[in-house]
Amino acid sequence: MKTWQNFIGGAWVPPVAGKHRDNVNPADTRDVIGRFPLSDATDVNRAVASALRGFQQWRRTPAPARGDVLRRVGDLLVARKEEVADLMTREMGKPLAETRGDVQEGIDTAYYAATEGRRLFGHTVPSELANKWAMSFRRPIGIAGLITPFNFPLAIPTWKAFPALLCGNAVVFKPCRDVPHTATVMVEILLEAGLPPEVIQLVHGAGEVGAAIVQHPDVALVSFTGSTETGSQVGETCGRMHKRLSLEMGGKNAMIVLNDADLELALDGVLWGAFGTTGQRCTATSRLIVQDGVHDEFVAMLARRTATLVLGDGREKGTDVGPLINAESVANVDRYVGIGASECELRLGGAAAKGPGLEHGFFYQPTIFTGVQPQSRLEQEEIFGPVLSVIRVKDAAEAFTVNNDVRYGLSSSVYTSDVNLAFRALNELDTGITYINAPTIGAEAHLPFGGVKLTGNGHREGGWEVYEFYSETKVGYVDFSGRLQRAQIDNY
Ligand code: UN1
Repeated sequence: MKTWQNFIGGAWVPPVAGKHRDNVNPADTRDVIGRFPLSDATDVNRAVASALRGFQQWRRTPAPARGDVLRRVGDLLVARKEEVADLMTREMGKPLAETRGDVQEGIDTAYYAATEGRRLFGHTVPSELANKWAMSFRRPIGIAGLITPFNFPLAIPTWKAFPALLCGNAVVFKPCRDVPHTATVMVEILLEAGLPPEVIQLVHGAGEVGAAIVQHPDVALVSFTGSTETGSQVGETCGRMHKRLSLEMGGKNAMIVLNDADLELALDGVLWGAFGTTGQRCTATSRLIVQDGVHDEFVAMLARRTATLVLGDGREKGTDVGPLINAESVANVDRYVGIGASECELRLGGAAAKGPGLEHGFFYQPTIFTGVQPQSRLEQEEIFGPVLSVIRVKDAAEAFTVNNDVRYGLSSSVYTSDVNLAFRALNELDTGITYINAPTIGAEAHLPFGGVKLTGNGHREGGWEVYEFYSETKVGYVDFSGRLQRAQIDNY
């Protein structure tokens, strides 16, 4: 079995303390992908020392040339799309169609970053004084510590690493320990594309590694995607140390189906939103808010179709839903199913899935609860699994209130054929993203992604906004009058 390494100091190296962990296929735990490092603070310290050197070189590389590296990264991902999707499904579990989409999101992010190398706009504005210019421009910040989750093993690391690199920062990257293979391939591709080696550091491991990165005084900014609880700890440290921080955390996203909705369309949407990626998305549809007039009919349609979803190995044709990521995740989903059973009515599923081909994986039945009450635990807490809570409401106003009455605010969705209600929803739903007649998932790489309330801390990934997070605004004034000119004083 292959033993994999960290990438630190421009070379593939073992963790200093020599500890490793087996990375297994969640669809069949007998399939061991390899042994990956369980690193510690010593490895992080070496990575940061190297990244400081990398930063000095990379910050002086013109942004268009940095963009050229990322364009080649995009080309390499295009060429290796099928291979990367396959290895990603093997270690993460979601079906190949989804991992192909995950790679495509990385490709889109790479090409967007490449073109941003020739923009990175600042502003030139008139000075209030004659013969003086005033302008702003973007500078790199330093070392970016990137901590990423398991559910989008390539896309989310690219959301962070590519803009960070395009802006001229060096990166210390700690992927989730459940998906180290995809992360390794991403770093290999960056190097093959011509990224100077010390600009990227890959440190595998558990929370200990993330904590060491966050606490290191030479890591200038941190971008974290994961649970709200861990995000709060990261936030405390970064606040104390005055670090720039982007947090992307939990969600409790709802799809609202109103009486005038196209029910077949809404059905396809909720199946994909709730059970795609086995519900393991920050944007997963975990609440279904249905108006009275169509509630019973729609729930019956939903239960019928959900029962036909095929669970299995994501690398096999015909699989709709893959496994959960690990045993702890199965236990967590089970715990919420227990809470649900005590609060409302279990309509479908509710247990780990058994059967031929499922014996050695972390499979869980797509699960539906009905009669879920607003403010109950099932309705309020993020589960990160294939559990959908159905809530009955009398009208759109009540639906919007229920949607907003949670501590998270990432994504929301409304199915209606009333254009007025659609625009009201855009205005009134307290989420970073609202979809009309589409499920709560499906964000595109060139638009800002993120949420309000406890989902985030005000920053966005993706699109144009993320480039502001990874760069510092600097202002330059050039006075070519040849004499002292006093702002605010001489002209007034
Ligand atoms: C996530 O939900 O964890 O919007 C990320 C989507 C994907 C990214 C989701 N493009 O569905």
